Amino acid sequence: MLDIVTKLVNKLHSTKDAMIITIGNTKGGVGKSTIACNLAVTAACHGKKSLLIDADVQGSSLTFRASRERDDIQALAVTTPTLHKDLNRFSGLDLIIIDSGGRDNAVFRSAIMASDALIIPCLPSQVDFWAASDVIEILKEARVYKDITAYFLLNQLIPHTNLAKDAREAIKDFDPEVKLLATVLHNRVAYKNSFGQGQGVIEWPDAKASDEIKSLYQELFI
Ligand SMILES: Nc1ncnc2c1ncn2[C@@H]1O[C@H](COP(=O)(O)OP(=O)(O)O)[C@@H](O)[C@H]1O
Ligand SMILES: [Mg+2]
Repeated sequence: MLDIVTKLVNKLHSTKDAMIITIGNTKGGVGKSTIACNLAVTAACHGKKSLLIDADVQGSSLTFRASRERDDIQALAVTTPTLHKDLNRFSGLDLIIIDSGGRDNAVFRSAIMASDALIIPCLPSQVDFWAASDVIEILKEARVYKDITAYFLLNQLIPHTNLAKDAREAIKDFDPEVKLLATVLHNRVAYKNSFGQGQGVIEWPDAKASDEIKSLYQELFI
């Protein structure tokens, strides 16, 4: 009897709902695909069963997956506005990472509705902070129906400048409901070069970039 109960509990545990996280911003070029793919690689290295959803018709995450030799990441394109319903069909996963398209459309809203958490990558400029207002409006609408934790992630800071401090100051009080992640990502060629080879920066010979992504993973999931 005890055995059956244990097996049932294990079975339930193995198919428990995955955490769903969207890397989203209605602005393009802020690093959504780079961050989504790097998190997927890091999750795979931690032995997590994760699924990378490419919700952008540009398909950068799918191209990343196709360039990757190792078979440790599953990636699928879902560019339909029923994404929040369709993801319910997947079971046995620890983590679903959605790389959203850089547009305010039904697919983007559906991705946010599907998510437990939203990461908003943001470049360190006032124009980019203003652009984030659009995402926050969409987030607020979604929050009427669902609890979604949201974070800003500063990306492409220039090393050896005071930009990080200034950007932190500017963005930290931008919206009381969106936290600023302590981890920041700097502008490093490793992000560009590794992506083209289907690799994460944790697999690339740049210890600083690698530490940034490890720190991001730790801050979000551990
Ligand atoms: N931290 C970074 N350092 C250097 N280049 C970066 C970094 N993050 C992103 N990039 C580069 O910026 C460009 C846009 O990134 P991408 O992930 O495609 O953005 P998005 O998916 O938001 O459009 C790409 O050329 C990518 O290699
Ligand atoms: Mg992209």
